[in-house]
Amino acid sequence: MSKDFDVKDINLAEQGRGRIDWALKEMPVIRSLMERFHKERPLNGVKMSGCLHITTETANLARALQMAGADLVLTASNPLSTQDDVAAALVSVYEIPTFAIKGEDNKTYYQHLNAALDHHPNVTMDDGADLVSLLHQERSNQLSEMIGSTEETTTGVIRLRAMAKDGALKLPVIAVNDANTKHLFDNRYGTGQSTLDGIIRATNILIAGKVFVVAGYGWCSRGISMRAKGLGANVIVTEIDPLKALEAVMDGFRVMPMIEAAPLADFICSATGDKHVIDKQHFEIMKNGCCVSNSGHFNVEINIPSLEAMAVEKRQPRAFVDEYRLADGRFIRILGEGRLVNLAAAEGHPAAVMDMSFANQALSAVYVYQNGKHMKNEVYPVPKEIDEEIARFKLESMGIKIDVLTPEQVTYLNSWQEGT
Ligand code: ADE
Repeated sequence: MSKDFDVKDINLAEQGRGRIDWALKEMPVIRSLMERFHKERPLNGVKMSGCLHITTETANLARALQMAGADLVLTASNPLSTQDDVAAALVSVYEIPTFAIKGEDNKTYYQHLNAALDHHPNVTMDDGADLVSLLHQERSNQLSEMIGSTEETTTGVIRLRAMAKDGALKLPVIAVNDANTKHLFDNRYGTGQSTLDGIIRATNILIAGKVFVVAGYGWCSRGISMRAKGLGANVIVTEIDPLKALEAVMDGFRVMPMIEAAPLADFICSATGDKHVIDKQHFEIMKNGCCVSNSGHFNVEINIPSLEAMAVEKRQPRAFVDEYRLADGRFIRILGEGRLVNLAAAEGHPAAVMDMSFANQALSAVYVYQNGKHMKNEVYPVPKEIDEEIARFKLESMGIKIDVLTPEQVTYLNSWQEGT
């Protein structure tokens, strides 16, 4: 692609700027990094390519990286998550070349990823590992230019660990997802709120009193279960991991296999990271009108091709709702084309949690740039000091103080002699 950017409508930039500023008010950690980066310029001249959801929060991360001196290009990490006004503002207000159009087809999606790699990055930032995967599979001649990468999400970290295990990973990567100040907040409270937000915006159907089935009980699905329960739904969890299933039971949820849950559900939402969690045999027994959605990274959790094959008619009664009529007269509704419903039909996680996720991203990018040459081609955790600094700063920004151990308590915790 020879263009310098590719956005839907550059005239949306002013609207985007206003919303980006609004989000920044909820991002005190990123604001403080902006100040520090502006003074210290830790990424001065570093060529960076970011493959992230193009949202107001990402725009503020991009501004912080720009203030650190990075020469940054952005591309979307999902065809349906881009906020077109934000993409326009990134290009025309902040002068960050951006390749992202909400609703782009798969070909355009990969053209955009390639455009981000045409930038010849030294450091990449991924959400789902598509950029690193393309770099290794189709643009491996550029690997020698790379210092390292960072990865935002559970699915991406799983992919990268699989690459490392096969000996296929050719650069060091920091697993931002695994930082405590990321997954304990973003995955749980962020996904919890934004997924319900997406389902409600798409359907405008009352959640109270409905049967809401959540596939999985990882941090994301815990958040979804908790918020659906808070809205008055009768929540059922499905799991394959006995420990997580037990936790779901003791958190007060009904647990059963999907084949038993599917006929009871008014809503089903999947966030497992695996494929075909909701499949043909489940569509065959679902209630009329069941709303099926996904909040996992890829659109493989729902077997939509099998539903397409079963359906006699497909229509779109509302934005982000595809309604399939089956031969027996039942309607099954798929929200947001089975892509991340929180970003497709709503605006993704609120800024206050992305503040911590993206502080981890920014500080990990600096870390991998400064240390990458001496790191192995492995997946590394976010350094503990970074994680703790973010937690401390977030608390401080909220005006919350905590206790400090007394010297006597420190001694007690380090001793083994004192007992009953
Ligand atoms: N992932 C989930 N929510 C997001 C957001 N608001 N911005 C960027 N990435 C996200």
